Amino acid sequence: SKKTTEFKEKILKELRRVLEDESNILKSAGENPYNVQYEGTKGNFGDKAAKEIMCELKKLRVKTLKRGDVVGGPKNLGDFLPKRSLFENKKFNSCAIVASAGALKDSNLGKTIDSHDLVLRFNHAPTKGFEEDVGRKTTVRLLNSQVVTRKEFNFLESDIYKNVTIVAWDPSNYKASLDEWLEKPEFNLFPAYVEYKKKNDKARFFLINPQSLWELWDFLQNNSPNRLRRNPLSSGFLGLGILLPLCNFIDMFEYVPSARATKRCHYYDPEDNPACTFGVWHPLAAEKLLTYHINTIDDQKVFQSGYVRIPGFKNFRC
Ligand code: C5P
Repeated sequence: SKKTTEFKEKILKELRRVLEDESNILKSAGENPYNVQYEGTKGNFGDKAAKEIMCELKKLRVKTLKRGDVVGGPKNLGDFLPKRSLFENKKFNSCAIVASAGALKDSNLGKTIDSHDLVLRFNHAPTKGFEEDVGRKTTVRLLNSQVVTRKEFNFLESDIYKNVTIVAWDPSNYKASLDEWLEKPEFNLFPAYVEYKKKNDKARFFLINPQSLWELWDFLQNNSPNRLRRNPLSSGFLGLGILLPLCNFIDMFEYVPSARATKRCHYYDPEDNPACTFGVWHPLAAEKLLTYHINTIDDQKVFQSGYVRIPGFKNFRC
């Protein structure tokens, strides 16, 4: 409809504006806290068919650390790592990624989200009290290392981190080896990892190999017409990278902003911050524009209902 087209134009324009502004900022103030030394070129996803992009993505796999990848390590981390990788040999039909955006508030998407076989949520995003809008089912929680380490998140005690698969990530420097990262993570998540596994040795708790984060960043830069902030991708895009090999399709809720887009950062917190949705710090605008490009569901669903659908790798013969 006309309304949908209007929303779409408005949102894509805003994402493109942020993408350009960010790359202009880069030209003057070249902050590079992770010492990114990208040697590839810029590209443009807009020049490629979705299939071509999916086939490029399919070549890179987000890896989790397995026993044997780390010998010894901080607090004998190596002895506590899982023997297998995340959902090894397991496949899902429908998967949902629940971005924590303020736009989920009053969305009434809870039932739709819960109808998926696997539901991935981020950080400390609650379901309790928000079931109508975000559902009650959680299969995976993807956590950044601040949530694992900072006292206020109560990682070792809080119920929201129990009885779910936990995947945690922490950024290394761009060229750091695994050993260098183990010695110097950004937030030291290893003691909490070991502590958690000591309490429950059957717990499903995975750590992302930080080199995978930068492989994803390279992929995004390689497909973006503007230079990107040299910071890690948001958890949202990482979640997609994790699920693509496992799911037949992935619905991402309020990641590409819909007509409900709001200044509010999170559905569970009244604080306003438009940068949460459109980016700054993370290369969010580029992530979202590319994600919309590989989306397969109609614009009515994307900009009115509030989700994009990305087909999993198994749908592509490359
Ligand atoms: O803020 P937090 O990192 O916990 O949010 C999880 C993810 O949800 C973000 O990494 C981002 O990809 C997505 N998000 C978003 N828009 C918002 C808030 C979060 O796209 N307003």
